[in-house]
Amino acid sequence: MKRVALLISGGGSNMETLVRDMTGDHPARPVLVVSNVPGAGGLAKSQALGIKTAVVDHKPFKGDRAGFEGALQDVLEQARPDIICLAGFMRILTERFVSQWEGRILNIHPSLLPKYKGLNTHARAIDAGDREAGCSVHQVTADLDDGPVLGQARVPVLPNDTPDSLAARVLAQEHLLYPAVLRRFASGDTTPVRLPAPKG
Ligand code: GAR
Repeated sequence: MKRVALLISGGGSNMETLVRDMTGDHPARPVLVVSNVPGAGGLAKSQALGIKTAVVDHKPFKGDRAGFEGALQDVLEQARPDIICLAGFMRILTERFVSQWEGRILNIHPSLLPKYKGLNTHARAIDAGDREAGCSVHQVTADLDDGPVLGQARVPVLPNDTPDSLAARVLAQEHLLYPAVLRRFASGDTTPVRLPAPKG
């Protein structure tokens, strides 16, 4: 059974769908949820789900990325994860940190990578006049939002979409895509997952 640590910064809806999927014949189990934001909504969610939580607040480490990542590394090493899932984790990780977990970190990003790395992905897709948007799960490498893509899901961009309405449509697909990718990845299969476009 693979051990999974989940890193969050916010509401933790992706974390929750991953945790809820890791039962029965799933090849992995959640062992720890770590937040870099002390009040993140996902912390209460993970406690309610019976998952151990930890907080590594980045704020006291202002200007000291190595210090923050060292503290994060300590917490993770104690949990001995085989896989780390970034699930709405909004800190950039350095090459040094990533190399310690190479091939074992996944991230979900709310765009059809390689388009729109970084922030404000939905506003950028709308501004560009894209007719299609979506989300990607990829392996994390030292370059931001750049590692091998393990799965994508697509949604239409509708004429009156705002960044919020598009984000909600994409998030519903994130909740299908990430569990499907983690299941496959934890069983040792890195063949990309392609979800069919939602109806309607
Ligand atoms: C999700 O939409 C995720 O794709 C995005 O943050 C949201 C977190 O929601 N991640 C990024 O933008 C990473 N750069 P959640 O906390 O409810 O899972």
